[in-house]
Amino acid sequence: MARIDFQLFDPLLSDADAEGMLRLCERHGRYGTYAEESIENDFAGDLAQRYDAALNFVRTGGRFGRKDSIAKLAARTNYFRETYAYDEPLVPGIEPFLNHEGFREAARRLYGREIVRPSIVYANLLVPGQELAIHTDVPEFRGVNRKRDPQWLIVAMHHSRLFERWRMPIATGVAWFGNPEGGEFAFYPEGPWGAPVALPVRHNTAILLDTDSVFHGVDRVAESRVPMPDLKPGMQLSWEGDDRWSLGRGDEVFARYAFRDLRFSISWKAYCYADEAEERLVREHRDDLSRARVLDVLVEDLRRRGRIPDAVPNDTDLALLIIREYIQYPPPAAATDGGARATA
Ligand SMILES: [Fe+2]
Repeated sequence: MARIDFQLFDPLLSDADAEGMLRLCERHGRYGTYAEESIENDFAGDLAQRYDAALNFVRTGGRFGRKDSIAKLAARTNYFRETYAYDEPLVPGIEPFLNHEGFREAARRLYGREIVRPSIVYANLLVPGQELAIHTDVPEFRGVNRKRDPQWLIVAMHHSRLFERWRMPIATGVAWFGNPEGGEFAFYPEGPWGAPVALPVRHNTAILLDTDSVFHGVDRVAESRVPMPDLKPGMQLSWEGDDRWSLGRGDEVFARYAFRDLRFSISWKAYCYADEAEERLVREHRDDLSRARVLDVLVEDLRRRGRIPDAVPNDTDLALLIIREYIQYPPPAAATDGGARATA
């Protein structure tokens, strides 16, 4: 399979701006667990938003095929997130990151599209013992997005390649600040059947790629100094001044960390348009998909593949069939083999 494009940045920012990102992370102060978004979902609403990724993680035990209880696996992936920019800066000091010219230029090259509109910047914090299951991000199509439609469906739409005309290409930059132990960025630049690359996390470095197409995840952050407590939704990671962070809920504290124990990354996402005419088409909703049409196209394709020989199954069974048929996850690596190490 053809190699998929990505660009590495080393360094990403000036020393002072990179230091500024660490201070901004502290100043922001409190980070909540990444709660599941709720939508007005009237289709297979009993499935979790990322049922696809969760199912694969539980089935395989993650990239290294480790065996853990479901509760422990859930705790490992229950990481912390806050938004730093949404169309405009939400926290002071994020401007050099939001408007980074290197990211913009790499995004232009990634899709060969001239207009790049940075739209969202968010911070992810992982504590020792946490990891992020292999997944592709939730893409976006004209008329279909995560505010209205189930995330697993949008992911499956992209992997099916049946809706390319409506796809809105999004470039993602991921930057790291600080030098944690472990927590490599694992990705599959040659596709799900190719060799994974594990990029070590080093201060003030970054990658830009199409995370809607390239499978990626985060290997486990080393648990050597502080063991992982029983992480539950609703907990908070808070900066307490100097080099002290605490993990807790209300007045209860479950663990304390220094910044070097935490894995801190900032993600940047930008919409990429071919030209102003395309941007207008999107804004004016002149060629939008509807969910009914999406399901019709998928059902027709599944019939053609012989997967629906008779009546269309009920919503949940149809959802499971769509996930199974279109989303092909990379197989787990052998426990002793972490895959190729990135050298660039
Ligand atoms: Fe992701």
